[in-house]
Parts: sequence; C-alpha cells; structure tokens
Amino acid sequence: MSDLHDDKILILDYGSQYTQLIARRVREAGVYCEIYPWDVEFEQIRDFGARGFILSGGPESTIGGETPEVPLELFDLELPVLGICYGMQAMAQQLGGRVENAGKSEFGYASVRACGHTELLRDIQDYQTDEGHGMLDVWMSHGDRVAEIPPGFKLMASTESAPIAGIADESRRIYGLQFHPEVTHTKQGVAIYRRFIHHICGCGSEWTSANIIESSIADVRAKVGTDEVILGLSGGVDSSVVAALLHTAIGDQLTCIFVDNGLLRYQEGDQVMSQFADHMGVRVIRIDAEDRFLAKLEGLSDPEDKRKAIGNLFIEIFEEQADKQNNARWLAQGTIYPDVIESAGAATGKAHLIKSHHNVGGLPEDMKLELVEPLRELFKDEVRQIGIELGIPREMVYRHPFPGPGLGVRILGEVNKAFADTLRLADHIFIEELRKHDLYDQVSQAFVVFLPVKSVGVTGDGRRYNHVVSLRAVETIDFMTARWADLPYDFLDHVSRRIMNEIEDISRVVYDISGKPPGTIEWE
Ligand code: XMP
Repeated sequence: MSDLHDDKILILDYGSQYTQLIARRVREAGVYCEIYPWDVEFEQIRDFGARGFILSGGPESTIGGETPEVPLELFDLELPVLGICYGMQAMAQQLGGRVENAGKSEFGYASVRACGHTELLRDIQDYQTDEGHGMLDVWMSHGDRVAEIPPGFKLMASTESAPIAGIADESRRIYGLQFHPEVTHTKQGVAIYRRFIHHICGCGSEWTSANIIESSIADVRAKVGTDEVILGLSGGVDSSVVAALLHTAIGDQLTCIFVDNGLLRYQEGDQVMSQFADHMGVRVIRIDAEDRFLAKLEGLSDPEDKRKAIGNLFIEIFEEQADKQNNARWLAQGTIYPDVIESAGAATGKAHLIKSHHNVGGLPEDMKLELVEPLRELFKDEVRQIGIELGIPREMVYRHPFPGPGLGVRILGEVNKAFADTLRLADHIFIEELRKHDLYDQVSQAFVVFLPVKSVGVTGDGRRYNHVVSLRAVETIDFMTARWADLPYDFLDHVSRRIMNEIEDISRVVYDISGKPPGTIEWE
C-alpha cells in the first residue's frame, strides 16, 4: 500500500469558524490534510510536502493596519492554491489587485454566476438562466470584496453584490472564491472541493477508513514492538476506539484500566466491561472506586473543587494500577486532531502534550511512559467511522459526549450516593425515551441535572416533598455555542410523568431553556 500521506493538502488558517470544516471536506474527498496557522515559518509550509494549498477565510479585513498575509513564497512553489473569502481577498490584494469594503455585510444565500469557463467550476452548476449562464446557489459571509482583479487573473464568478466573487489565474493554477464551498448550504461545495483536490492538485483518494486502520496498525506495531501498553479506558468514543485499534494491532500487549468512579451513567460500567472484555477480548482491569470518589467529594460543593478532586483521584488510582503493570513502557491516549490544533502544536510538531484540558485533568508526565496516540491525526467523524469498522456498536460510537467528572458536575453542590443513584435513573429514562422516539440522534447532547432543592408535590392523597430534576437537551455543531432543543411537548410530558411516577425521590421535572451563551451546556 502506498503511504496514505503521499497526496496531501495544506490549509492555512486565517481564523475562520469554517477552517475545520474545510479540512473535513478534504478528508471526505479521500485526501489527508492538515491545518497550519497562516503565520507559521515558511520552511514548515514548504517541508509539509502538499500537492496544493487552501487559504481559509477569516474575521480580519485586508484594508488598513497590519493584517494577516499570504506568504508570497507560496506562489514560487508553483503548486495550486485556492483562497476562500478572506484567503482570496488577501491573495488578490498582495498580487496587485484591490479590496474594498462592500458598504454592507452580506451573510446568507446568494446566487453566483459562474463565468470564464475555468477548470475549477466547469460543468458545475445548480441551474441555468434563460440566457444560458450556469448558476450556483452558495453561502456568503463577508464585509469586504475584491474591487480590482490582480494582473494575470480573470473573472471566474460574480454576484450582484460581489461582482468579483471568484478569480482565477489558470496558468499558475491559483483560484479564489468569495463564497464558502465548505458549508452544506453551498450545494455544489463538495464538487468544487473535489475538483480542486483531485483534478487540479492531482491527489488520489487513499484516505479511507480501511486504509487508515491498516496504516495505524502498522505504525503502532512498528512503534511499540513487543512492549506492553496501558490505556485509561473511559467508555467515551476516543478511548474506546483506541482500545479497539490497539487490541487489533497488538492484542494482549494492551492492558486497559477502567476506573468506575460511581459517577457514570446507568449501567455504563457493566456495558464497558461487557463490550470490551467479554465481547472483544480486550484485557481490561476494572477498578471499582465509587467509595473512594464519594469520600473525596464529601463536603465539597464548589464545581471547580469537585472537578479537581475527581481529576486528582483518577490520576492517583490510575498511577497505582499503572505501577502494577511494571512492564508497560507506553501510555496510549485518545488525543484527536482538534485537540492537537487547540493545543496550538499542529504546526510546530512540538506538541506532545498530554490531554490536559480534557476529561480527568490529564495524566502526570513523570510516569516515565512514552505516549502512543493513534488518533492524533483524526477528526471525530473519522474516529467514529473507524470505531464502527472495528466492531464497536453504533450505540456506543455515537453516544452523546459525557464530561470527565461525570455525574459529579450534574449533581449541583455536594454529591452523595443517593443523589447519584436517583440521577442515574432519571437520566436513563430520558435517554431511553429519546431513543424510542428517534430523537436521540437529533440532539447533540441530552441529560438530566439533579437539583438539591425540595419542592412540594402530591400523589394520590399524599403530599410529597422531594427533589427537582431538570432535563437538558441541546443542538450544537461545536459545543462552543448551543441552542436548547425544541423537543415536542408531548414527548416532554411523557418523560416528566415517567420520571415522577417511577422515581419516588423526584417530585418535579423542569426543562432547561437556556442557550449557550449565556448559559453553558452543563450546569456546573
Ligand atoms: P459547557 O458546559 O462548557 O460544555 O458548555 C461544553 C461541552 O464540554 C463538556 N464538558 C466537559 N467535558 N470535562 C469534560 O471532559 C469537563 O470538566 C467538562 N465540562 C463540560 C460538556 O458535557 C459539553 O459537551
């Protein structure tokens, strides 16, 4: 098999919210790509060995002041370049064109007329006008526009509000688009990216799940040889896929440590054991540490104190177990590509950071174990796809995210076992009903929050004075902003009745209608 990384694209990031989406479109086209900040040393750009470059959009204006630039040496490489939105404007300005403020910003749908018969847009269209012009329905989001085409370029696309919505210098294979082909609103976006990547840059389609698995297995085997590896298995998607991948690659050389902290979801610990240990034959050591966690949490009500206590104890227990595996030389981690980008290490290659911002506070560096991170190059959707191909059930792979501190941050204030047990049951009812009503996959995250206040209720002739829970369900793409999910009233009514009928400790159910911002997704 040829190296999966032979054909690759480099994306220079100018800060657009869509940059990762561009990368996903490239990957979906079967081509490996990475994202570098626009101001990385040029040598790194050159040494990456891309077959072509994409310049992302960004929030800045090229007009006035010091603005992010395109490294002009890029054009000396004589490789194809595609500039999107800001990427096109910066390129146009630096190559001798002119950019102006459009007077008013344009956000939303637009109809673009493709012109100039360029390689990039040839035969790609949504419909034709009566005059025979090919038209594209696209997504625009910009305040500036190109006012003068740089020398050597010709017009490739135009709209009413942006007469220069696309430019091309076909002799140098340099293209610019004012609209965003990476968002799904641009109907022919995938076709445009594929045209650029395959046809103009000449990349093949080697980047597939099957090839990624095969190559990761080979890499892991070459890296660890006959050494032993340990992995903290949480039951979340990333660590689960690492477990499955490493098990396939090195079998019994892998030992997973699964710490049940008593703050997991309903029957989660048993599910993890049954899937990995019983079903897949992975060597998993389960540590039942509920008592230790609950003891540590006693008297703590501040969310940050709780997070720290849970994270530190996790590390303590993990280290105790790791010490017992004294032959282990490697520590496996479920770091994925967005973590690498966020750690700002993507470009320098220096980032060999332990996943500290995530889950349980990270593992200590003085463990003297070397890291193996087989998902380091992958986006979440790629990780999921690989998980499915490695035989992890869909239900586990597509499970909503769950915070590292678990129910510890969903029981407001001080945590105790009775509250955790009650919350687990309520959460289970909500999730079970979401699945039954085909709503689970329509929301990004859903859960129940336990409120340690009491409220009066009535059952039959009796008065109840019990706890309150809140249902929370959100829709989001990136978890940075979110909308509360507009779940049907009948459905909410049904869930609320079930919870109050089946769980004695709960006398009231509310629905959280806070967006993020100003709220957060979790309550603590
Ligand atoms: P917030 O509450 O910040 O949550 O809007 C955004 C996403 O992050 C998850 N979350 C956490 N994940 N450790 C984690 O691993 C944490 O301490 C933590 N806090 C929040 C949350 O579930 C949501 O998906």
